[in-house]
Amino acid sequence: MGTGPRSSEQSETATITGVLELGPFITIEGVDGSGKTTQLHYLAERLRTAGERVTVTREPGGTALGDGLRRLLLEPSPEPIAPAAELAMMFAARAQNCARIIEPARQRGEWVLCDRFSDASLAYQGAGRGIDSNTIRQLHELLVPGCYPDLTLILDVELSISLKRARARLVRSGSQEGRFEAEGAAFFERVRAAYLELARREPERCRLIESAAPEQQVAERIWHEVEAFAATRRQSVRGQAQ
Ligand SMILES: Nc1ncnc2c1ncn2[C@@H]1O[C@H](COP(=O)(O)OP(=O)(O)OP(=O)(O)O)[C@@H](O)[C@H]1O
Ligand SMILES: [Mg+2]
Repeated sequence: MGTGPRSSEQSETATITGVLELGPFITIEGVDGSGKTTQLHYLAERLRTAGERVTVTREPGGTALGDGLRRLLLEPSPEPIAPAAELAMMFAARAQNCARIIEPARQRGEWVLCDRFSDASLAYQGAGRGIDSNTIRQLHELLVPGCYPDLTLILDVELSISLKRARARLVRSGSQEGRFEAEGAAFFERVRAAYLELARREPERCRLIESAAPEQQVAERIWHEVEAFAATRRQSVRGQAQ
């Protein structure tokens, strides 16, 4: 599975030929309660068992700055947060995550698994809040240039199931992170539709994973996709090195 811990011979080949073998960057997306965090945990464990080095991060968060912004973004706010301010904070957290966690881990050749990324801004601040998607893409290029996932897993499940899961988890954990969960059904319908549209528009990068099934079944579907991705990637790296 995967490229495995690389031998010095492989690293040397990559350097001599000028092929920079960055670690694979995988993001997981979907509405609240679709199972992203649960599945990222399974995937990280499975990759580690297969001998891979894995860095797991999340958005907003992943760094001290990002975690501070996460509290501002996800916990109830004493005043309404303007959509542009919400977007700016998401990108501030993302820029820090890319600079401090994602890019360094990729440079070390590690797998990077990120719980939400810029597609979440397109879905939530774009489709959800009504900010123009081109503005969001331009912000990405300006603030995190070149930082694009190799593979994006989009978990999809009926909102009646996902929101129930998300709200039950909030109550059970006593977490304060309920600012988005407090949105109405129409908001989440727009977010879900944006993810479905993304999967349709970018089939090369995105895989739509139906996630109403039991956790283990969803984990198997994801593993199947990641194995196929890793096989294609191995072939392409070999092709470049020759
Ligand atoms: N396939 C599943 N079947 C039933 N329950 C699940 C499944 N996957 C996750 N759950 C449960 O649903 C809740 C939400 O899952 P999880 O936290 O992984 O979702 P999430 O997509 O990360 O949500 P958020 O966007 O709010 O962080 C958790 O309590 C989790 O245990
Ligand atoms: Mg989560």
